[in-house]
Amino acid sequence: MNIAVIGTGYVGLVSGVCYAELGNHVICVDKEKDKIRVLQEGGIPIYEPGLKQLADHNRELGRLQFTFDTLEAVRQSDVVIIAVGTPPGPRGEADLQYIEAAAREIGDAMNGYKVVVVKSTVPVGTNEKVQQIVRSRTDQVFDIASVPEFLREGSAVRDTLYPDRIVIGAESPQAVELLKQLHQSLTPEIIVTDIRSAEMIKYASNAFLATKISFINEIANICEKVGADVTEVATGMGLDHRIGPHFLQAGIGYGGSCFPKDTKALIQIAGNADYDFKLLKSVVEVNRQQRFGIIDKLIATIGPMQRMEGKKVGVWGLAFKPDTDDVREAPALDIVQTLIEHGAIPKVYDPVAMDNFRSVLDHPSIHWCRSALEAAEEAEAICLLTEWKEFKQTDFKAVEQVMLRPLLIDGRNIFGPQHFKDTQFLYYSVGRPAFG
Ligand code: UGA
Repeated sequence: MNIAVIGTGYVGLVSGVCYAELGNHVICVDKEKDKIRVLQEGGIPIYEPGLKQLADHNRELGRLQFTFDTLEAVRQSDVVIIAVGTPPGPRGEADLQYIEAAAREIGDAMNGYKVVVVKSTVPVGTNEKVQQIVRSRTDQVFDIASVPEFLREGSAVRDTLYPDRIVIGAESPQAVELLKQLHQSLTPEIIVTDIRSAEMIKYASNAFLATKISFINEIANICEKVGADVTEVATGMGLDHRIGPHFLQAGIGYGGSCFPKDTKALIQIAGNADYDFKLLKSVVEVNRQQRFGIIDKLIATIGPMQRMEGKKVGVWGLAFKPDTDDVREAPALDIVQTLIEHGAIPKVYDPVAMDNFRSVLDHPSIHWCRSALEAAEEAEAICLLTEWKEFKQTDFKAVEQVMLRPLLIDGRNIFGPQHFKDTQFLYYSVGRPAFG
């Protein structure tokens, strides 16, 4: 099949590369010329494990191209996938300007039957809007379909090539048939539904996952007060098939470009339909608070924040999760900001997200370190905010030597007490008894 993918962000780029891997001819389009130039020259503008190898392979086979010429890309394609951003507007609602612009260009480029697929996460009813825009600019026959994406940053290639399910929201049998063909080698779990339900499945899935996280984080907070261990509790809960073991990892809350944006958008969508989504509002509020638990633990161990003046605090991990350089809505942003506000000196280190973090939060009191050990030097405490593999392999005997006080506040619960048995470390985590 000939496929055009409009938008080369996470979803567009990974989808484009993976559709090429399935044997299709794919043209990825973006308005940002610099980005396209990087891609044309063999670069990948995002950090995503495995993506470059797959892109190189398909480029060599002539199945993957990049252009900023939307009209040409659409003209050459049977399936046109819209994967542009839907950033949050001032009230949390999804901003649809890029979707609408893409629809206009598709309409102008139509030269025969095509299926226009919306992959971006969009409020219920957006596909119909796209249909109207395209229809207003062409007499050609086309169909519209919603095929939401469920990939995670950091495992995006695997999630796309081995998905749990494919959701196809479409009314036209011809479009359904074409899209089933396109995805049939990926999974037997293909759900065909109406367009509005497909749009809702994406929001409801992300909102539910966010709910699981805020739920376990509140359980963790209670565990701390009553002396229970949330990891034990989550294991015990997760063995119930109705609950499942996933997304019950307590910590400093979710970040990233998806959960924060989509939960707020769904609250807004509900509100527009005159429904007060109370549960989801609480999920968002719990998540906002949860990251400050790290600061509470610093206060509990070092003393009130006014005593933080001039004190060095190591910060291990800035990305919103491991295996990505993405810092959007990362808990580290608020935590480092709070440290700065109280006069502390954050000594930050992340294996890949340093530049991105600096472009969002740069401050003279931040020390940018080249290793986890350097971030620990002369520190009163280390706050671990992202569960990078390299932190799990830390030699704490060496770290202890360079710190002023061997104190680790682990926001991701990556260690057990055994880890510190030969050290002087005082170890705090989330929802578990302190150790040391
Ligand atoms: C999320 C969804 O998992 C994808 O299915 C969806 O396609 C994507 O959003 C999207 O809408 O595009 P992503 O944001 O890449 O993917 O990352 P996740 O792995 O879901 O993690 C999100 C956040 O939740 C991270 O900050 C992570 O640290 C946190 N998390 C996750 C927890 O705190 N606890 C957990 O148990 C799981």
